[in-house]
Amino acid sequence: MNNNPNIVDEIKSKVVLSDIIQKYVAWDTRKTNSTKGIYWACCPFHSEKTPSFTVDNIKKTYHCFGCNASGDAYQFLMDIDNISFLEALTKMANHCGVKLPEKGNFDPVENQKREILYKINSEASDFYIKELNKSENNHKFEYLKKRGLTTENINFFKIGYAKGRGELISYLQSCGYNNRQIFDAGLIIENDKGEYFERFRDRIIFPITDTTNRVIAFGGRDLSGKAPAKYLNSPETKLFQKKSIIYNFYNARKSFKPDKKLIVTEGYFDTIALVINGYESSVASMGTSLSIEQINQLWQISSQPLLCYDGDTAGKNAAIRVIELIFPILKPSFSMNFLFLPDAMDPDDLLTNHGSDALNPLITSSVSLIDLFWDRYMSLSDYGTPEGRAKIESNMMNMISKIQDMEVRKHYKLEITSKLSAYWKSKSFESNKIFFIKKKANLPSEELISKSNKKRIPDSISKEEALYLSTIIRYPELTGGFLDQIASIKFHNENTDLINKQIIDFIVTNRIKNEQFNSITEYLNENGFLKILDDISNFDFEKIYDFLSKQQELSKVEEKFKNILVEVNKHQLIWKLEEAKSNYSDSPTEENASKLEDLKHRLQKIRTDAYVITTDNQKNKKGFDKWYEENKSRLQKKDPI
Ligand code: CTP
Ligand code: MN
Repeated sequence: MNNNPNIVDEIKSKVVLSDIIQKYVAWDTRKTNSTKGIYWACCPFHSEKTPSFTVDNIKKTYHCFGCNASGDAYQFLMDIDNISFLEALTKMANHCGVKLPEKGNFDPVENQKREILYKINSEASDFYIKELNKSENNHKFEYLKKRGLTTENINFFKIGYAKGRGELISYLQSCGYNNRQIFDAGLIIENDKGEYFERFRDRIIFPITDTTNRVIAFGGRDLSGKAPAKYLNSPETKLFQKKSIIYNFYNARKSFKPDKKLIVTEGYFDTIALVINGYESSVASMGTSLSIEQINQLWQISSQPLLCYDGDTAGKNAAIRVIELIFPILKPSFSMNFLFLPDAMDPDDLLTNHGSDALNPLITSSVSLIDLFWDRYMSLSDYGTPEGRAKIESNMMNMISKIQDMEVRKHYKLEITSKLSAYWKSKSFESNKIFFIKKKANLPSEELISKSNKKRIPDSISKEEALYLSTIIRYPELTGGFLDQIASIKFHNENTDLINKQIIDFIVTNRIKNEQFNSITEYLNENGFLKILDDISNFDFEKIYDFLSKQQELSKVEEKFKNILVEVNKHQLIWKLEEAKSNYSDSPTEENASKLEDLKHRLQKIRTDAYVITTDNQKNKKGFDKWYEENKSRLQKKDPI
């Protein structure tokens, strides 16, 4: 077979085996584990009733335990369709959109040129390695050691050194290559006078290899501190198209295990630090902007790669660009997770300074694509108004419509629609909003949000507080059954706190009955609480809540009052949490951190309790509320503080 072996491998690496095979079988959903890339079906090569045919997308092989049929995608197509290798190759090429060199078009000269470039790159790589190991370059070696690499690591990554004063040119010439060929390999630069210079001068050299581990390019890190760019890569050549290459792809695929993560970073040193620390399946995109080709490559290794970005704005923006890139190409099982590192740290900094203990929790709490999408789009408009909410909803739906895969699109739509409707309907919408105001402080709608935030500073009474007061004023007898709970509320708003104490005092001392509720308002009016009573009546609760417009049985109101108390407590906690957050950002001491944590737990607990109460009353809404509570806690966990 005289096909270019690289095309054969390239096509195979691009194709997901189960995509090819699924046209011939029906997967057994019980045994199949698509996340791990393992599929089961009844064997298409012999007749059977229970599935003994399995496909492994990672290894790119299939096997039947019944008839022992096995092989790769080419073998499968040749056997099942009874076609030649060339026909199978053509089928596969069409499937993944690779253009095959046509028979008449196949250019042996072009092919030979590529082969020469491979050889030059390989020679250069060996040369750079030898340079690094020269005793005169010992301090370059020391630089790498200082950055945490052992000799073994340096050898494993085939790291080298380029002095760049013409040594490489002479060496390659002595191997029989001419300047044009060396230039085509991207190793030298030509000036106006037609003179050649080496591209990499006084740089540590990282060889970049393709999916079959052949060297196709280099990345060089400046050591002088004087070069205009810290990193320099080979230019685009016949072998190297930066946007479709991933650093360390070959090793990462080889060492990948389905129960581990494929970690994607930006830099060479980041990948190396990860590998050294035991995260062997790690790769680098070599700069911030990931391309569609690179995403497809990552999916060749894992269906859920984990992207590591800085926690700063640039990192967040890079992650957001990925959303836009990845949505159109999403397919069942395949997605992406995101990990944000503490400000101004890259994985290398984090691991070198704090070890894998610092990274593991970040990996565990990584953000899924849909959550990142949700957070991002929720922050684009002010959702305090119907117009703002409509804008958010249409932005989200517009983005979802870009997902080409019907199934994935359907499920995104379902999840986002229900999440939005729950979010808008949430009784505690107003108070939850505070969470997001803080959280999105750096994002564009900040100004808008801060305006609405200012309005909400508690010099006036909140809705929760007002509803609570209206209820005890209308049903003074309620206080009897809830005295402990009422007494333990410490209202954030001083006025509310005062009026609450006055009301309770008045009710208890005078044993006010429900029918005598008017006497409470009279008392408050006479004692200078006119303004606050006015504020409460402005909420027009009587229009919304039946039990406030006409007297109802106390037992019925009690159930409602339980919910009101929960809301009030929740609201007070949220204010405290806001205070604690700002204390923590002013002075990030351990004490302040633990106060913050404690408040978060209390809030979490109250939310869970609230769930119990609402489900008691509204059994039909159980799934909805449960979902809502779970969702809220998830959002809360990701709060950046
Ligand atoms: N990069 C690049 N070209 C540049 C700058 C960066 O290709 N001009 C790529 C490199 O692959 C580099 C990665 O982007 O590893 C990240 O760059 P940067 O964060 O600037 O460097 P670090 O990897 O942190 O480098 P170091 O730790 O050596 O300072
Ligand atoms: Mn770094």
